[in-house]
Amino acid sequence: MKKIIVTGALGQIGSELIEKLRSEYGAENVLATDIRKPDGATSGPFELLDVTDGKQMLELAKKFGADTIMHMAALLSAKAEENPLFAWNLNMGGLMNALEVAREMDMQFFTPSSIGAFGPSTPKQNTPQDTLQRPTTMYGVNKVAGELLCDYYYHKFGIDTRGVRFPGLISYVAQPGGGTTDYAVDIYYKAIEEGKYTSFIAEGTYMDMMYMPDALQAIVDLMEADPSKLVHRNAFNVTAMSFEPSQIAASIQKCIPDFQMAYEVDPVRQAIANSWPDNIDPSAAIEEWGFKANYDLDAMTEDMLAKLKKKLKAS
Ligand code: SER
Repeated sequence: MKKIIVTGALGQIGSELIEKLRSEYGAENVLATDIRKPDGATSGPFELLDVTDGKQMLELAKKFGADTIMHMAALLSAKAEENPLFAWNLNMGGLMNALEVAREMDMQFFTPSSIGAFGPSTPKQNTPQDTLQRPTTMYGVNKVAGELLCDYYYHKFGIDTRGVRFPGLISYVAQPGGGTTDYAVDIYYKAIEEGKYTSFIAEGTYMDMMYMPDALQAIVDLMEADPSKLVHRNAFNVTAMSFEPSQIAASIQKCIPDFQMAYEVDPVRQAIANSWPDNIDPSAAIEEWGFKANYDLDAMTEDMLAKLKKKLKAS
């Protein structure tokens, strides 16, 4: 039985990951931590934790008797460009603390990397698992350094570190806040609320994306995978779809025919998007641990609009 401590548990991925883990392993076996308090009631144990405080992280992990740590607390790409030093301190300081806790307690370890770990010199089409990684954003620098550190802790200390390079993640539960792929989440909110959306990413800009249920399943599947099958560890390319803004607009129009799309490009986030791949190759993840995504663009749009309508009506 796993006893899992999760950092950044109220974030975009964390808030849904917690529920998924609690349904898989039992609510009492998953400790949610975050720098802020949850708004309402929680579905299991919760502790306040600033991930830059390594001592407190270790104390909480010990008290809980954790055998697994999932480190999700991080600043996303656009936010990191606004304050690069803060991003470095939070993203790298938090990761080092989590790795040290894992080393001290010999825990299994997960942290997400990202398509942001690639840069303009990376092949843009069918981006291979092993390729050039010279990102031009602080977020990307953090992600590459993070992948290397996780490999280092595996080779040097034998810590069972595992990770994926997530594409843009789309969900109706918690909003991302501060990422470059956020337009593909915002668009659904605005489609329901206003019937129109102004995209800060230009038409023709392809990026990889994935619906949250597939992302959560990928985390569980990778953590459960037979280690003898893993050639790679940090971090696997995973993706479900690649699209550009007018394609997601067209998908929404199949459900909301009057939906209107306009463009007002944000140069900072557009430059970040331009530096990332158009579509990445997930074949290593498929071969080594059976990665599979169930939602394509239209299936995601249908589910997202239905769930979001319910959520917005209730609020
Ligand atoms: N979704 C993230 C971002 O846009 C990429 O990992 O920053």
